[in-house]
Amino acid sequence: QEVHAAEMERTFIAIKPDGVQRGLISEIITRFERKGFKLVGLKIMVPSKGFAQQHYHGAKERPFFNGLCNFLSSGPVVAMVWEGEGVIRYGRKLIGATDPQKSEPGTIRGDLAVVVGRNIIHGSDGAETAKDEISLWFKPEELVSYTSNAEKWIY
Ligand code: PPS
Repeated sequence: QEVHAAEMERTFIAIKPDGVQRGLISEIITRFERKGFKLVGLKIMVPSKGFAQQHYHGAKERPFFNGLCNFLSSGPVVAMVWEGEGVIRYGRKLIGATDPQKSEPGTIRGDLAVVVGRNIIHGSDGAETAKDEISLWFKPEELVSYTSNAEKWIY
């Protein structure tokens, strides 16, 4: 079946400063890549506090908001856009529950993290947030559209 990249769903995934410092970049990318999702945007940056506040604006009433924003802006973050059928919902499945104490073994947080304040990775929680987060972190020209050879064996 022919599947065109332009029709494909996209999500925003970030490896937070703890994941970067712990050397988990390749481990995390590997899990998304092996599944069959496609990397279409990638950069590393240290977000400012203001940028972190924008990213987490949906949580601004939460007691942990300030600490969360300080944490995200405390070091390099790997920002990514991944593409594929069902990638928003299934990406969250690969990541596991927000609290690593509750995430299943086999998930990224279940296997690699212990506490909620250091849960190593972020993934958009729905179509609307995916759209917003992708446009917050990336300019359109920083995203690529391409067909990988593997695609005809994945779809
Ligand atoms: S909200 O209010 O519905 O947006 O909250 P939620 O989606 O559960 O979480 C938003 C982000 O806050 C992180 N989080 C926490 N950080 C520190 N301490 C506590 N207790 C805590 N609870 C939630 C959570 O991991 C979310 O960040 P991301 O990067 O999306 O995982």
